[in-house]
Amino acid sequence: MGSCVCLRQHCCYGGLGGAFQRRGLSSLFREGVVAPGLTAPFYQYHRNRRRVEACVSTGFKELELRSPDLVALEYADLNLTHNVSQELGHVRIRQHVNPLSSSLSVPVEVPDWNQVFRDPTLPLMVDIGSGSGRFLMWLAKRNLVVRNYLGLEIRQKLVKRADVWVKELGLSNIHFMYANATTSFNQLVSTYPGPLMLVSILCPDPYFKRKHHKRRVVQKPLVDSIVNNLAPRGQVFIQSDVLDVALEMRNQFDSLPHVLKHIDEIESSVLCDSEGWLLSNPMGKRTEREIHAEFEGAKIYRRVYQKQVQKALG
Ligand SMILES: C[S@@+](CC[C@H](N)C(=O)[O-])C[C@H]1O[C@@H](n2cnc3c(N)ncnc32)[C@H](O)[C@@H]1O
Repeated sequence: MGSCVCLRQHCCYGGLGGAFQRRGLSSLFREGVVAPGLTAPFYQYHRNRRRVEACVSTGFKELELRSPDLVALEYADLNLTHNVSQELGHVRIRQHVNPLSSSLSVPVEVPDWNQVFRDPTLPLMVDIGSGSGRFLMWLAKRNLVVRNYLGLEIRQKLVKRADVWVKELGLSNIHFMYANATTSFNQLVSTYPGPLMLVSILCPDPYFKRKHHKRRVVQKPLVDSIVNNLAPRGQVFIQSDVLDVALEMRNQFDSLPHVLKHIDEIESSVLCDSEGWLLSNPMGKRTEREIHAEFEGAKIYRRVYQKQVQKALG
């Protein structure tokens, strides 16, 4: 098995291996060596092969974990089928979708909100770039009668698969749309009957090349639309594992201090590091990209803003 470190999460620390003693469990979490949220009680990390193994204690049966397995584990309670690809073909995560292409420049048709949500007057959360949709499904399942969830995703196959999963889960408070958020967000949310209470933009595609930066989803018109459509006390949650992307988003939302305040200015219990990034994930669930990034040892840069209640004149 080579050199490996055995970490026992739920037992006293005395039994842990060398890596823990040298660096501490929390630093191993930060480095992505061990993923928080795993339920298996044992973990083994092969330093030379950069992989984590969770040994299920019953019989020490070993389960090899790669970061997609961590995603499956963290979302195990959704109990989603994995063979939807038979119906949809292989759901490949295509790297390059150009949101500026002419085919994606037309706003999508606004749905009949009464058809998509059981109660379309509930407060709404919109996730921009919802990816597989698991994160939003997890939230929707927990908040069945209090909130609706709308996922906007530019890759159609991901939306089709999410639709299959939503049907399977029997949820009536979540809807996914194949849409370019840049062109469709405003029209969609401005026609929604209830209040827009939360918008999330989580690990948006970084489009690393400078000439492709204009494809990034957080641009001034979208930011203005989010802020204008948010209900008072509505929130915006942004995060990225790419500092440059996180800073660009942060600059956009920081530039509206008369309308938006960062959450640590409002709630003293919310803590940030010295650079103003949130110390922890405020949603209680990691997104898929977040799981992959933390597994690779990346830091996640997060901010949450809240819209101010405008004071009446006079
Ligand atoms: C890196 S993934 C992150 C997915 C998910 N938020 C997460 O954290 O796991 C970014 C997602 O945003 C989608 N996306 C990129 N540009 C978009 C746009 N203009 N409108 C809607 N979705 C977009 C991509 O297709 C991709 O699924």
